[in-house]
Amino acid sequence: MRLHQNERFTAHSPVGIETIKQLVETFPINEYPVEVIDQVKASYSTYAGVRPTQLVVGNGSDELIGYLCARYAGPESPVIASQPDFVMYQFYADRARADFSKVPLLDGMALDVDGLLAAPGNIIFLSHPHNPSGILRKEADVRRLLDSGKYVVIDEAYIDFALEQSMVGLLDEYPNAIILRTLSKAFGLASLRLGFLIASEQVVAEVESIKSPYNVSGLSAAVGIAIMAEPELDLVLEETFASRDTIARLVKPLGRTYPSAANFVYVEYEEAERFTERCANAGLRIRLFDGAFRVSCGSTEAMEILEKCVEEELQCVVGQVNE
Ligand SMILES: Cc1ncc(COP(=O)(O)O)c(C=O)c1O
Repeated sequence: MRLHQNERFTAHSPVGIETIKQLVETFPINEYPVEVIDQVKASYSTYAGVRPTQLVVGNGSDELIGYLCARYAGPESPVIASQPDFVMYQFYADRARADFSKVPLLDGMALDVDGLLAAPGNIIFLSHPHNPSGILRKEADVRRLLDSGKYVVIDEAYIDFALEQSMVGLLDEYPNAIILRTLSKAFGLASLRLGFLIASEQVVAEVESIKSPYNVSGLSAAVGIAIMAEPELDLVLEETFASRDTIARLVKPLGRTYPSAANFVYVEYEEAERFTERCANAGLRIRLFDGAFRVSCGSTEAMEILEKCVEEELQCVVGQVNE
């Protein structure tokens, strides 16, 4: 079971599935995707409360991270990000031949705002909620970063799980604010590869100028529109939060956890490697970090396996103490 990539575990509604089937049969796959991209922008802009002209659609938000690094960083201009944060910031910095200015997080995974401001580079990436801990960033901290005039990319891949905490409103005040969103998480469409960049029209034009013209599949965009129209998100959130509570309760005896606003829980645990291996042997893939692990929300069956693994792990710890 896949609890290592923060994918949605709940199924799409029968109505959603039926609509997808009809689209597969009727969609004009012989045509280059043009109008459908405008349509997906229209749908997403309504959901996000922004103008369609403020959007760039990407082949997943990953691709948009790549465009941002290519446009606003390079050999003379590093990419700045906290450590740890989403790994793809460094991947795309490398691809843009830009140095990567890593700024360690402070205790409790807090942003080191002064450190980020002092680091060389013109573009700062941060995830909100933060991956891997799931905590929300403080708006005051992000404002301080924006006040520097550098581009600040607020990666809201998981914000659908806490939508009222979105920082999309900052776009009205800061032309250097850039928001990233995706349909890969709460909307459960990771395989379709649909991400959105939301920013000022100027940033949109600059990113569009280096974007491949037909970067997103028309069929994916059409399915995205259909799924966004489905009223299933409330149920998804309910089931995700129930699983998140279960994970938090189960793993608490192992180490320090963080109050996650996303669809995963992060735990600092010395024996994280052993525990990750134990889970893998039981059929559960979770994500290993240095002295920590992260578990994505999952089905009741997955939670039962996790419970067994934690019990075994605790017994193992007791055994070690008694040796
Ligand atoms: C913080 C963060 N940003 C972006 C992404 C990439 O999402 P996408 O599937 O849209 O490329 C992920 C995926 O795990 C993520 O954790």
